[in-house]
Amino acid sequence: MSQHGHGHGHGHGHGHADPQVQAEILDLDAEVVAEHTASIVDWLPVPAARQVVDLGSGTGAGTFALLSRFPEAHVTAVDASVEHLRRLRTRAGELGLADRVHAVVADLDSDWPDLGTPDLMWASASLHHMADPARALRQAHDVLAPGGLLAVVEVSGMPRFLPDHLPESRLEDHRHDERLPHRGADWGAKLIEAGFTVEGERTVTVHLEQSAAVERYAEMVLRHVLDPETLGRVLRRDDLSLRSDRIVWAARK
Ligand SMILES: C[S@@+](CC[C@H](N)C(=O)[O-])C[C@H]1O[C@@H](n2cnc3c(N)ncnc32)[C@H](O)[C@@H]1O
Repeated sequence: MSQHGHGHGHGHGHGHADPQVQAEILDLDAEVVAEHTASIVDWLPVPAARQVVDLGSGTGAGTFALLSRFPEAHVTAVDASVEHLRRLRTRAGELGLADRVHAVVADLDSDWPDLGTPDLMWASASLHHMADPARALRQAHDVLAPGGLLAVVEVSGMPRFLPDHLPESRLEDHRHDERLPHRGADWGAKLIEAGFTVEGERTVTVHLEQSAAVERYAEMVLRHVLDPETLGRVLRRDDLSLRSDRIVWAARK
């Protein structure tokens, strides 16, 4: 994201430099896919976790799912964006979870700050932002407790909102951001190279019918792709949906 100098937008592929707008998109994404995220967290081969680190936490989509799944856990949320962590802390306060969340501003492309010895690490839609994800994975491997688990979640392709038969839907394919060369990488292979054993891989299909949140999400994303008139016309349709598959890898140290 732009805060650490790549000058492009949010990782699900919608270019926008304004951190407030990025944060809003992350919050919307968290809201609409909350059940999918919970099911990913439930699937992780981890009976209990006490020390958890959320790498590139954004506004906390993963942090809050992890806190809810592991009632004993304390989560350290690490992100380069002060604005995202500010939102995350505010939310933690509202939910009465402030004492279980620790927010750390750090650039994970540099040497990492002391993150303790977590038994679980989570990196959702963040690794593909890093200049050197292989190095980040090696650092994650070093930091994890022996036998600890790293969960990597990445989106497969761009989120799509328009029905395929609409000519405008082709524009949704052209949002690939060349400044994110690691998007869509083979994370299983990268995890093995970093020393992990991949214990599981799963694709979670997200297909949500139109709702107020999906419409808001579509508007925030498509306004970077469509001219205002086309955008207005598209948003008056009643057959929008959100399709955005997520792939998760469970990697053991
Ligand atoms: C697409 S967002 C994902 C946020 C969250 N994990 C989620 O699933 O909603 C990517 C996040 O990674 C963070 N990020 C990207 N590169 C980073 C870096 N080098 N160091 C720390 N955080 C980084 C961004 O600030 C952003 O919050």
